[in-house]
Amino acid sequence: MREGTILKEINQTFDALKRPLRDLRISVIDRCNLRCQYCMPAEIFGDSYEFLPMEELLTFDEIERAATFFANLGVEKIRLTGGEPLLRKNLPQLIEKLSAIKGIKDIALTSNGVYLKKHASALKAAGLKRVNISLDSIEDELFKKITGRKIGIKPVLEGIEAAEKAGLEVKINMVVKKGMNESQILPMAEFCKDKNVTLRFIEFMDVGNTNGWKLDHVMTKQDILELLSSKYALEAVDPDYYGEVAKRYRYSNSSAQIGFITSVSESFCSTCTRARLSANGQIYTCLFSSEGFDLRKSLRSGLTDEEIQGQIESVWNLRRDRYSDERVEGIAERKTKIEMSYIGG
Ligand code: GTP
Ligand code: 5AD
Ligand code: SF4
Ligand code: SF4
Repeated sequence: MREGTILKEINQTFDALKRPLRDLRISVIDRCNLRCQYCMPAEIFGDSYEFLPMEELLTFDEIERAATFFANLGVEKIRLTGGEPLLRKNLPQLIEKLSAIKGIKDIALTSNGVYLKKHASALKAAGLKRVNISLDSIEDELFKKITGRKIGIKPVLEGIEAAEKAGLEVKINMVVKKGMNESQILPMAEFCKDKNVTLRFIEFMDVGNTNGWKLDHVMTKQDILELLSSKYALEAVDPDYYGEVAKRYRYSNSSAQIGFITSVSESFCSTCTRARLSANGQIYTCLFSSEGFDLRKSLRSGLTDEEIQGQIESVWNLRRDRYSDERVEGIAERKTKIEMSYIGG
């Protein structure tokens, strides 16, 4: 634990809608080696796009310090995201630091898997427990079309193997968008069932301002379940813990499971326990926020641990975000939102 860090007892904090602070999603870099159409479209994130310079990213020591404050306020789970988090050099060093924080029980990573083969065992040795790997198509040409680069599925599949071999718990994330990859729902289900790995279908969301989201593009949980039910018998599984994002189902003749992330058709804001820290040190209290709180400024300003922890607590105590619920209710405000690559989902 770093010198000068507060060692007081964990003091669970709640927001204005009585939701506890439990999870912290930390984006470690805004860059990605892929250009998924629905996340970082190549037309916008091209050669002249200005990514954050290194000095604007939080250092590992700053992330560790911030994470310690969050843990003191109730955070138990940390998820590292990007862009693509494996583009950040020496990531296992950060995981080691985060693993040592009192109160942190679970550290996970969300990655596109391309560089996972190289890093899986070091990540596991550093204390990583789980990895969620994005894979929207099991068909090579379509995968390349969606991800906008010449990289095919081979390194991703090797990354999945390597992660499993290293002893990491693996789940696969598939964003489903009409007109893009609904043809892949059954093939992906079959592939994951055969491998006995959990596949989560994610409803295409209106994150950021550049992905051209339309409600017509969304394949809902209901649409996908109908399609799967033509081939498989599925039964719902109870949530594992308060605030679990995915709604899970199991196949009747196998231990494999699938899940649905239903931000559009069945929003889940009432149990949302997640804070987000962007790569440049802004705290966002919702995936659809427009503005964050500048924690980097506080971390670099000479404020004491007590003062900074107090600021984080106030940010959470004032939180009233429930964007997806408001969209369902037809009252969501149209405003400029933070981009996915800054906030990592
Ligand atoms: P687990 O701990 O494994 O359940 O992780 P997770 O599903 O929370 O994390 P992951 O990074 O794999 O995210 C899967 C999808 O859920 C992504 O599309 C995220 O953007 C989305 N997601 C995660 N948390 C939230 C949330 O609070 N609100 C909304 N709307 N979407 C979320
Ligand atoms: N809608 C839903 N999920 C998205 N992701 C990225 N952009 C979107 C979007 N517009 C997913 C990625 C990854 C996770 C972090 O978020 O595919 O699995
Ligand atoms: Fe990169 Fe993931 Fe976004 Fe695709 S979805 S561009 S892999 S951050
Ligand atoms: Fe949480 Fe915002 Fe997602 Fe609702 S829309 S679940 S408040 S992050």
